[in-house]
Amino acid sequence: MGKIILTGDRPTGRLHVGHYVGSLRRRVELQNSGEFEKIFIMIADAQALTDNADNPEKIRQNIVEVALDYLSAGLDPDKSTLFIQSMIPELTELSFYYMNLVTVSRLQRNPTVKSEIQMRNFEASIPVGFFTYPISQAADITAFKATTVPVGEDQMPMLEQCKEIVHKFNSVYGDTLVEPEILLPDNKACLRLPGIDGKAKMSKSLNNCIYLADTQSEVKKKVMSMYTDPDHIRIEDPGKLEGNCVFTYLDAFCKQEHFEEFLPDYKSLDELKEHYQRGGLGDVKVKKFLNNVMQTVLEPIRQRRAKWEKDIPAVYEILRKGSEEAEQVAAATLRDVRQAMKINYFDDNNLIKEQSQKYQ
Ligand code: TRP
Repeated sequence: MGKIILTGDRPTGRLHVGHYVGSLRRRVELQNSGEFEKIFIMIADAQALTDNADNPEKIRQNIVEVALDYLSAGLDPDKSTLFIQSMIPELTELSFYYMNLVTVSRLQRNPTVKSEIQMRNFEASIPVGFFTYPISQAADITAFKATTVPVGEDQMPMLEQCKEIVHKFNSVYGDTLVEPEILLPDNKACLRLPGIDGKAKMSKSLNNCIYLADTQSEVKKKVMSMYTDPDHIRIEDPGKLEGNCVFTYLDAFCKQEHFEEFLPDYKSLDELKEHYQRGGLGDVKVKKFLNNVMQTVLEPIRQRRAKWEKDIPAVYEILRKGSEEAEQVAAATLRDVRQAMKINYFDDNNLIKEQSQKYQ
């Protein structure tokens, strides 16, 4: 069996550059590497509803936004299957069976769930669906027999929990499910790209994101307003790199060729960093360089987006076809699962024979 990718995003807003360096860019590389037999990219609307039950319109509106972001980032519907989670009812059924293999206390210990509960001030009023979403995520992954799950660092506990479910299932019912492997970004700056205000996380509510769909002038404005080193006041002052998000963004985005093109006085990012730390290099110069780098990366994405925005029905058609294809794959896994769990009563000739003999 070849390698299979499954990954996805909740459609709660447009995707930003944190999504891009954390996972999207990698998915496109993996897609184009030809190393994978199948690639499934899922818009996790059902998961998004677990904490947006009262706002289905928001999820509905953002499905096409995320699909546009996928297509403009370079995901190609001829190579990757793009689909919508809620269109695959098999995922719900799988989750229902997995629920018997997971304890409440194990879910309570899931670090991602724990911190999300705090963030959302759920405390005593956690929706059951939200609390159990790690189980549904295990269903997403295993339904497609995924071997490889490219995601950000925050998803590590989800993958751990998924592996536990796979082990438990296989040991109780016999070898059926495939154990997935997480694929994290290899560059540290990409693990968790900070917001432009230097805050640890990019988030819509903090208003500190650069979106893939931002215009050239929006990106420039955001880059020029980025948080740097507050003690770096005059150009001659030595500057700090820690917590200086202009340099974190350069770590995530900048390539050697960008120096040749935009800043030929420097050979590498290390040389630029040294000069900044030594003093004598102003923030504006570094920000202008970062702006050039980001525009180079984002321009082709914007152009592809503009093209797809003109044909929204085609985007929905891609999702519809992808969902149909994904459902067939999930249905095949469900047949294996039902057989392993011995709940395939009507397909099991032996069962009927056995029961008949009992009464002969
Ligand atoms: N939890 C992921 C997020 O918040 C979305 C997601 C749902 C996912 N199911 C998945 C990611 C399965 C990878 C694999 O973005």
